[in-house]
Amino acid sequence: MEIKIVDNVCDVKCDVLIINKFVDKETSSELVSKFAPESFTGKSGQIFSINTRGELPAKNILAVGLGCEEDIDNNVIRENVAKAVKKCASMKAKSVAIDFRTHFNYAGPAVLGVSIANYHFDKYKTKKEHRISELYLSDVDNNLAKRAEIVSEALKLARNLSNEPASFATPSKLAEIAQGLEGIKTEIFDKEKIEQLGMGAYLAVARGSVEAPKFIHMQYTCPNPKKKIAIIGKGLCFDSGGLDIKPASSMLTMKDDMSGAACILGVMKALSKLNPEIEVHGIIAACENMPSGSSYKPGDIVTAMNGKTIEVDNTDAEGRLTLADALCYACKLGVDEVIDIATLTGACMVALGTAASGIMGNDDEFVQRIIEKGNEAGEKYWQLPMWQEYRDNMDSDVADMKNTGTRYGGASAAGMFLKEFVTDEVKWAHLDIAGTAFLEKGQKEFSKGATGAGVRTLIKYIIEQ
Ligand code: BES
Ligand code: MG
Ligand code: ZN
Repeated sequence: MEIKIVDNVCDVKCDVLIINKFVDKETSSELVSKFAPESFTGKSGQIFSINTRGELPAKNILAVGLGCEEDIDNNVIRENVAKAVKKCASMKAKSVAIDFRTHFNYAGPAVLGVSIANYHFDKYKTKKEHRISELYLSDVDNNLAKRAEIVSEALKLARNLSNEPASFATPSKLAEIAQGLEGIKTEIFDKEKIEQLGMGAYLAVARGSVEAPKFIHMQYTCPNPKKKIAIIGKGLCFDSGGLDIKPASSMLTMKDDMSGAACILGVMKALSKLNPEIEVHGIIAACENMPSGSSYKPGDIVTAMNGKTIEVDNTDAEGRLTLADALCYACKLGVDEVIDIATLTGACMVALGTAASGIMGNDDEFVQRIIEKGNEAGEKYWQLPMWQEYRDNMDSDVADMKNTGTRYGGASAAGMFLKEFVTDEVKWAHLDIAGTAFLEKGQKEFSKGATGAGVRTLIKYIIEQ
């Protein structure tokens, strides 16, 4: 989609011109009073389509209610724009112009709303989905529009990778994509190097698959960084459960178990264009969890990079094993903060559904800052407890810990497990996106499938330090 900033969108010959009205203000645009009926009050979510019958260069007008002007924020604009765009698509519109009369800087959320709603994963369909190809804006902050375009591209990359089948998005493929990112320095570690580093937990998970593991370390640097951050994404390119194999219905969406990794790739792609004064390390321990003669087995004892031993209680609790080694590695980089993002537990999905991601960490103020940036970016988080009881359930008779506890409180248990691999000097947060990364039915501006969960949060967190 091409974004064009013009002098006056009302002069543009386009298929649809989107205008707005607030409930608490006189007609926001003279076009509203001219074309919209009285029943159109401007209530948030209200949408009205009008044929201009040759009275305007635009063929149609879509009037969108935005509620009270004082209450509008990025989220209201983005969601309503996305809704309007879906309507435009149903009208088979190709070119769309947005003329919002408000003092709010709406360029960012408008661009994001359009691009999120305009996204379709139709690479493998012979008949392609309808898309808007031109977007016209005027009187907007050019820089905000540009920045939103970069975030949109990051979201698109993340969503594409999570939507791709596991036979396409393999560990090697993720490594190849990481190496292709402009302005990012990337190192890839193969099995031998991973072994040398002592990442026994990660390697155990990878062992059952014919796909080779790839440990990916990307780096965005700048002169005199204000801070150093590591972001880690769970990169299970397929999670069959391993020998503790999943039932067919639960395995069906497990190509998305690398959504954390997809998020990190999207964020790293955006960073070199946004140029924050922060050093950022993007880390992915990519592999598959498969049952085979070479698989790791329940009862095995594995040793992570920090020397701690883990009894494998369940081979389906594999993500935390790969993250354990990735966390050890990240903590050795001399960073101030570490954030991991993972489709980690079904328990988190049971607790929060698809509305919010779980968040935990070793520093409440740090966790709160991420939640705030996430909310501003349109992503919700709910903090889950990190209590000792969850850790006690993972005590093992034969090793330092087991990789699972009881069936209950699974998201917090996983968080407590990860904490064992984080050094005390770094601030650490863990985002569980099991429920939010992949939708089985559409939700708000997102259609079903991958959402690119975490991309907007992490970008906003990093660039607004
Ligand atoms: N990848 C899954 C978690 C998951 C479940 C993500 C549903 C997205 C949707 C993870 O590896 C897993 O299998 N977790 C187990 C842990 C259990 C064995 C302690 C789970 O949640 O059932
Ligand atoms: Mg699993
Ligand atoms: Zn998994």
